Amino acid sequence: MTPVRKAVLPVAGMGTRIQPAAKTTPKNLLNVYDRPILAHVVAEGRAAGIEHFVFITGRGQGAIEDYFDRAFELEYSLESKGRMAILEDVKSDQLGPGQMSFVRQMEPLGLGHAVWCARDIIGDEPFAVMLPDMLMAAEPGALAQAIAAHDAVGGNVVVVEPAPPGEAHKYGIVALGKAVGRGGRLSTMTGMVEKPPPGTEPSNLFISGRYILQPGIFDALSAHTPGAGGEIQLTDAMLQRLEVEPFHALEYDGVTYDCGDKLGLLRANVAYALKDPECGADCRAALKALLAR
Ligand code: UTP
Repeated sequence: MTPVRKAVLPVAGMGTRIQPAAKTTPKNLLNVYDRPILAHVVAEGRAAGIEHFVFITGRGQGAIEDYFDRAFELEYSLESKGRMAILEDVKSDQLGPGQMSFVRQMEPLGLGHAVWCARDIIGDEPFAVMLPDMLMAAEPGALAQAIAAHDAVGGNVVVVEPAPPGEAHKYGIVALGKAVGRGGRLSTMTGMVEKPPPGTEPSNLFISGRYILQPGIFDALSAHTPGAGGEIQLTDAMLQRLEVEPFHALEYDGVTYDCGDKLGLLRANVAYALKDPECGADCRAALKALLAR
């Protein structure tokens, strides 16, 4: 089986729900505890064996390229002051030469269009899509779980998770076929419905933020057919490919924070601070004091 080596990270969306915080800072460079959201997501990709990250960007997002590059002056300054722990932390997020590409989407025409922009860099091999707004705290990481599922069953793998009770109609929901592994948490997929009317949902599992896709998806995306909201939707292209190749839904083990939403970003910050061995106890005490006021 061809290994999954490349990941597409679409970051060109408008970030409407989180404005004005993302007016001058790219949304995915907003912080979650000790580093930008995007650095957490790239770390998850590296831990899963991803060798090349393809960022789909828009205007004003040059800082993303700088973040994953060397920062010579900062590193020199930290080294000369002997701040070695901070230096190591800074360096740990750098990507190596040739490990990142940046593709301009030009216009935010939808997630499907953003993924299509990566077609030449991906070529003819299976690849990952990581939605960087979705911070998925898991051990092993959500993408590693998806790649393990892909190694086991091949085809396409879509990571899913249960919608909050009574809210399935707000999400892209999957229809499941038979269970094929992971103790019933990996199943064949028979369909997908975007925001099904209440009572008609085929399951309570929604498409979360990680996918393993076969390169045939680019054929379906190249038609540029607008779907819901006038945007070129990835789910529409996946529905077309479902006719010709297998799709699997993996219910992953972990907790997702939607950092494209103000409350989700706040929850992620608190959760990541609480689980940090150095500052977790202080954070808990600070929260208790705040709540007691
Ligand atoms: P979202 O719809 O969740 O992100 O897209 P958004 O558009 O930035 O947020 P809102 O809805 O306006 O608040 C999911 C992911 O796809 C990317 C976004 O950056 C996000 O990571 N995306 C979306 C693109 O890269 N290009 C697009 O045209 C649309």
